[in-house]
Parts: sequence; C-alpha cells; structure tokens
Amino acid sequence: MPTPPDPALCRSLADDLRAAAFSADGLRDSWGEAADGAIARGLRLPAERALSGREDALAVLARLLVLGLRQPVAVVDAALPRAGASGLVALDLATTDAGDVVPRAVIRPQEFSDAAGEVEWWVASDLDEAALGGPLPEDHVLGVGGASLTLAGLQLPGHVGRVLDIGTGCGIQALRARRDADTVVATDVSARALHFTRLNALLNGVDGIEVRQGSLFEPVAGEVFERVVSNPPFVITPRAAGVPAYEYRDGGLVGDALVEKVVTGVGAHLAPGGVAQLLGNWEYRDGEDGLDRVRQWVAASDIPLDAWVVERELLDPLAYAELWIRDGGTPPGSAESQRLLAAWLDDFAERRVTGVGFGYVLLRRARGSKHTLARYERVSQPVGGALGPHLAAALATHERLTAVDDTALAASVLEVAPDVTEARHHMPGAEDPSVIELRQGGGFGRTLGVDPALAGLVGACDGDLPVGVLIDAIAQLLEVDAAELRADLLPRVRELLFTQFLQFA
Ligand SMILES: C[S@@+](CC[C@H](N)C(=O)[O-])C[C@H]1O[C@@H](n2cnc3c(N)ncnc32)[C@H](O)[C@@H]1O
Repeated sequence: MPTPPDPALCRSLADDLRAAAFSADGLRDSWGEAADGAIARGLRLPAERALSGREDALAVLARLLVLGLRQPVAVVDAALPRAGASGLVALDLATTDAGDVVPRAVIRPQEFSDAAGEVEWWVASDLDEAALGGPLPEDHVLGVGGASLTLAGLQLPGHVGRVLDIGTGCGIQALRARRDADTVVATDVSARALHFTRLNALLNGVDGIEVRQGSLFEPVAGEVFERVVSNPPFVITPRAAGVPAYEYRDGGLVGDALVEKVVTGVGAHLAPGGVAQLLGNWEYRDGEDGLDRVRQWVAASDIPLDAWVVERELLDPLAYAELWIRDGGTPPGSAESQRLLAAWLDDFAERRVTGVGFGYVLLRRARGSKHTLARYERVSQPVGGALGPHLAAALATHERLTAVDDTALAASVLEVAPDVTEARHHMPGAEDPSVIELRQGGGFGRTLGVDPALAGLVGACDGDLPVGVLIDAIAQLLEVDAAELRADLLPRVRELLFTQFLQFA
C-alpha cells in the first residue's frame, strides 16, 4: 500500500483549494456549461481554451488537477502557497519533470445533496480519459461517475452505526455513508484506490472511515454491519486473451458471477434488519428472465433476505458489448473494436445470453426466519433526484402493511401524496375517459393506469374518512357489490401505499 497520506498536508492542500475557490461553481463559471459537459465526455479542449491566458490560482489548479495538464513548478507553488508542488508529490498526486509538475491524478469538486443538506467534496482519483487523452490503464481508479452518484443517492437516509462499502474506489460511497453512519469500513482490492479513499476523507475533513484491502467479504470475515453499500465491478467481460480486464469495472469472474457472489454472500454480513444496497448487471440466459436469476441468488442466501430489485435497463448483447468497448476508450469501428466485439459476442453465445439487465438491488436481513418482501420489477423511466428517502418511506410502509390486515386497512384513513396528479384521456367527443392515469412527480416517477373506481377512491383520500367507508360509497355510486369492490381495491391500495401514491394520514 502507498505511504498513508499526511493529514497535515491534506489540510494544507484543502486550505489552498478553498482559497483558490476550487469549487464546482468556480470551475463552471471559468469555462462555461458546454465545456463542463465536454469534460464529462472525455474532451478537455473547450475548457483548456476557455482558460487560455489566465494565470490565477483557480486557472492553474483547473489545468493541473482537472484537465491533467502539466504546469511549471513555480506557478503551482504560487497557486498552492501552503501545500506547494512538493505537497502534491508527497501525496502521490503528481511528479515533477523538467521544471514542471506532472499530474498523476485529478481532483474534481463533487456536489451532493441529501436530507441533511448540500455538501461539496473534493474527490481525487486517477487521471481520467479527458486528462489522459486516451484509453484508461487496467488498474485505473475511477472517479465519481453517473453510477456512483446513482448509488450515493439511493443510500437510505437516517442514522446508523457501522456501514461497509465494498469496492470503495475513490471513496465516494463511504463519504456519503459517513454523513449518516458512526463509522464506515471501506474495502477494495486496489491499494491505490484505498490511498485515494484515505486522501479524500482527509481532504474533506471526514473522519471515521477505515480502509481495508481485500476481495469482496474477505476483509470483514465474521463482522456484521447495519448497512452495506456496493457499486461492485459488475461489468460482464469475456475471459479471453487480449481483452482488457479493468479493475474498476470487472471483478474477474465469468458472466454475472461477481454480482451473484455479492447477493448470496451479503446476508451473513448484515445485522438483523440491516440493509444492503448495490448496483448490478444480470444475464438473461436462454430466454430466462434475468430478474428470475436474481430471485434465485436471493433464495440461495443462507440468511433470509427481503428483496427489492429494480431493473432500470435491459440491453441486448450487441448493445452491451458496444457500450463497454466504447467505455474502455476503444473507438467504434476500429479493428481493435471489431476484435473485442467478437470476443464479447462469443462469450455471450457460450452461455446463450439474450440480454443483460442493469439495476438496483436492495436486500434487508429479515428480523425473523422468513422474508416478507420479494419485489422484482422493471422501472425504466428517468428518475430525478436522490431516491434514498423514497426507498426508506416505502420500506417503512411495507413494515406497517405487513402488520395490517384488510379489515384494519379498511379502517385506516389515507391521503393522496402531494406529488400525485391525474390525467384523463378521452376519445374525441366522448364523455367518459378511455384512460385514467395517476402520475407521481417524485420517487420513481411512476405512471399507473387506473379504473374509475380506483381513481375515485384515490381522489377521495383526503385524510378524512376511512378507506372502507370510501369504497362502500363508491360501490353504491357505481351500483356494484361493496364486498367485491373491497376485495378488488384493497390489494391495489396496498400497492399505492408502498409506491407512495397514497400515505397513511
Ligand atoms: C465500479 S468501481 C466503484 C467505485 C466507487 N465505489 C463508486 O461508487 O464510484 C468498483 C470498485 O471495486 C473494486 N474491486 C474490483 N474487484 C474487487 C473485489 N473482488 N473486491 C472488492 N473490490 C473490488 C475496484 O478496484 C473498484 O474500485
């Protein structure tokens, strides 16, 4: 493992970055939205041009630490009066060569907001495609990407004791988890990743994150946690000669076996009631539904687990291969890309893979000997904002619903959630709608087709009368049997409560 970063030096560097206004806003203002977006796509030229002629500290640090451009030592010393160029070298963030500071890493300001408010972290990671101007090496330590932010936003809010982050990389999930947890254990196979995690914690003044090197559950044998989070290296990669095995995305196993290992093994590391949240890929083999594979993995856990699995995307093998070949920096259409494509398609053909699902997995160690939640679903519409609070509310509702029979549910008073709207679609000239939809503004942004009875019930849920009374009134209005209408509507009311269209008043 590299020498542990010096805390005092990290504090000096943080002070220098703050003094230079090295922030997401500061950088965006320097080069504009378009250049900011271009960097995320691996293009640094527009930002470089926008900084042209500027020698102030922010511009120097932006060139050096975001765009990966070498800068003269004297200029860097002026921009970092406390840490100096030598500080960057001591922290393994740069080397020097012929009077220049040569970056070995990038530092990106990362905005994040959750129930506790807004925060901005400086996150150091290996030089990315924008900084390298080419493909990544296989031992690359990833910075914060779209998937990282998705999982950070999925993390359940609320105070917990110990959290485990498997495959911590630059430590973004650990930083997020520490906002709610007393302590975090962050693991990775990569010593350099753990160096970045330590450094990022120190740079941001965050304590309570312990790093441990090792594969999957090895570093935490015999230990349990209240939460486990993991954005594991889930990318399905052919195990063939000449196919790069990127440490940051590929766990070295065949097909989706790494995700299977995490799902089947995590229960033993959860305290009763503890929750694991991870991202993953799963294969559809021989036409078998990929979500059924995940269901089998959950069933194979020695510890009974509640499961809520949301498939967000399904790609055919060709689209999947193209995506990850491009992600590795190989230009589409090149001879190398054709060779890799053949390897991917051969690999998928061997297991008769017809599709690959991507999604979110939430597993909860059941408090008793039986699970009560087994929800496997597809939700493909775009989702805005952090989902953690929505997931937490749904889980709490599930707990409540398992203790409520239909008689008690009928006696409950409910309210329609404030983000729900109704859309009615009529055939031209028709008096009655042919389609009624309930739409959710927050959460998963679900749209639900409903019949007039359910639409009427939801519309009447204003926190006044019990739901059973409302159903009876609707039955009278529609001239149908009240008991039959209850039997029809109450299961759907349960679903609307879980999905947060309705709430207990
Ligand atoms: C997709 S990155 C996630 C990084 C970070 N947690 C995030 O959310 O952005 C996966 C990480 O898992 C690590 N990794 C790869 N194989 C592993 C294994 N067998 N056990 C633990 N970590 C592993 C990689 O080094 C990499 O840092």
